[in-house]
Amino acid sequence: MALPQRVKLVDVGPRDGLQNEKQTVPADVKVELVHRLQGAGLSEIEVTSYVSPKWVPQMADNAQVMSGIRRKPGVRYSVLIPNLQGFDAALALDRAYWPDEIVVFAAASESFSQRNINCSIGQSIERFRPIVAAAREKGIYVRGAMSCVVGCPIEGEVAPDAVARLAGLMKDVGVQHVGVADTIGVGTPTKVQRAMEATLKHFAIDDVSGHFHDTYGQALANTLASLEMGVWQFDASVAGLGGCPYAKGATGNVATEDVVYMLHGMGIATGIDLDRLIEAGQYISDFLQRKSGSRVATAMMAKRG
Ligand code: HMG
Ligand code: MG
Repeated sequence: MALPQRVKLVDVGPRDGLQNEKQTVPADVKVELVHRLQGAGLSEIEVTSYVSPKWVPQMADNAQVMSGIRRKPGVRYSVLIPNLQGFDAALALDRAYWPDEIVVFAAASESFSQRNINCSIGQSIERFRPIVAAAREKGIYVRGAMSCVVGCPIEGEVAPDAVARLAGLMKDVGVQHVGVADTIGVGTPTKVQRAMEATLKHFAIDDVSGHFHDTYGQALANTLASLEMGVWQFDASVAGLGGCPYAKGATGNVATEDVVYMLHGMGIATGIDLDRLIEAGQYISDFLQRKSGSRVATAMMAKRG
């Protein structure tokens, strides 16, 4: 199959990347990061989550961040929503600060569902049903994140059947797009392709994206394996920020800079300016006083001296 000519990248750094940070990142730093990402040409940014601040304190400033962003026309701003309380909080703000898209999330593994959101897979899906209906009624796009599609930190290997089952449930409640997430980054290309195939039983190729954490260094290979199937939408995290609070040792998503470099090198357009993206990554890495997790950013900065 011919590779896609254009790829859409969603930068999830401000949410997935920062949610696990121990030091408090002030809202104005998060807002500045969003501004720099949109300045670099990102067309979608996952900004924050409306989850319980007791579970994920770093995201407690969700409303402040959403209302601090100077929106750029054409950019889609998404937020993670676990339940009706989170949805109501996101919509309690002035309409100008509503998300364009919400992300509901469920796991392909029962144990991870319990650990991450304190309920079963079935319960999480039933929780989403009224949220999805309300969002769509208000014209808000609904994406579903499917965690642990190849491996679970508690149960180990996850079978493609479990992914197909979850994708079917997501479709049934009216989710419009699903993210196929390797939460702990254990997937290898053929396993990821099996998870994609399972998802494609219920969703069209244009409604599926890849979300690969890079814990085992497989995320770029898994991106390429997905591209070969025609998948053209991916999540990535600037500077490779992140980790999951409920998956010990899991590192961040693949660095957006590294994906952009690979795609541009293959002649695939992203609409992203790599130099400006590297600067955005440098901004947040400097704030965190940490070396960037992007190999490309590190190499290009070293070259500049
Ligand atoms: P629970 O304790 O079962 O909920 O948590 P509850 O309904 O019993 O409420 C308990 C307390 O939380 C109450 O407060 C609620 O008001 C409050 P209290 O009465 O004790 O003072 N609460 C909330 N507060 C603010 N916003 C809310 C909210 N809901 C309840 N929305 C819950 C259930 C889902 C809330 C909890 O488990 C939670 O917040 N979990 C966070 C999960 C999370 O953020 N995980 C990381 C993101 S997922 C991810 O990273 C994976 C992804 O990237 C894809 C991949 O890589 O796999 C998407
Ligand atoms: Mg993730």
